[in-house]
Amino acid sequence: MHEPLTQKPRPAPEQPLEHPAVNRTFIGKLVREFYRRVRADDRLGPIFKGVIGDDWDPHLEKMTDFWCAVILKNGAYSGRPVPAHLKLKQVREEDFEIWLGIFGQTAADLCEPLVADVFIERAERIARSLKLAMFFCPSAAGAAAKEET
Ligand code: HEM
Repeated sequence: MHEPLTQKPRPAPEQPLEHPAVNRTFIGKLVREFYRRVRADDRLGPIFKGVIGDDWDPHLEKMTDFWCAVILKNGAYSGRPVPAHLKLKQVREEDFEIWLGIFGQTAADLCEPLVADVFIERAERIARSLKLAMFFCPSAAGAAAKEET
């Protein structure tokens, strides 16, 4: 006899990455290097400058919290990425390829390969959720992106 299923089965929650070199200090370095490269990019640089201006420290701290929450599962970030991106009307779907290209290269340059793979896989998954929210179906994708952290 089976109990009736009252809820959709959920995938097992993602585990924190446990690696001696991957802590907040390391993640902060990765975040800073990534955004240094983003700012130098001809397409993404001006988009970020238009929103953030020259006062980057609060954004870098927030993004360090975000990546700590994603990778270490420490609950450091409690923001809402979808609304923050929905208001960026100048962003095109192809811009995500540039973002992911810079992110992948930065992770490959700073992390050992297995660690880089973890960051890149999670970035790709969140990028998919954000793209869905921005370009296809806002209400369905909002919850998906929120579940990533
Ligand atoms: C073309 C791609 C992207 C662009 C142009 C972009 C741009 C931006 C900008 C301008 C902000 C600042 C918004 C504000 O402070 O009002 C922001 C915030 C943020 N972005 Fe992105 N982003 C992109 C992709 C991504 C991806 C793939 C991720 C995650 C893997 C991500 C995660 C975040 C987070 C967590 C915030 C902070 C939201 C908050 O709590 O305020 N972004 N992004």
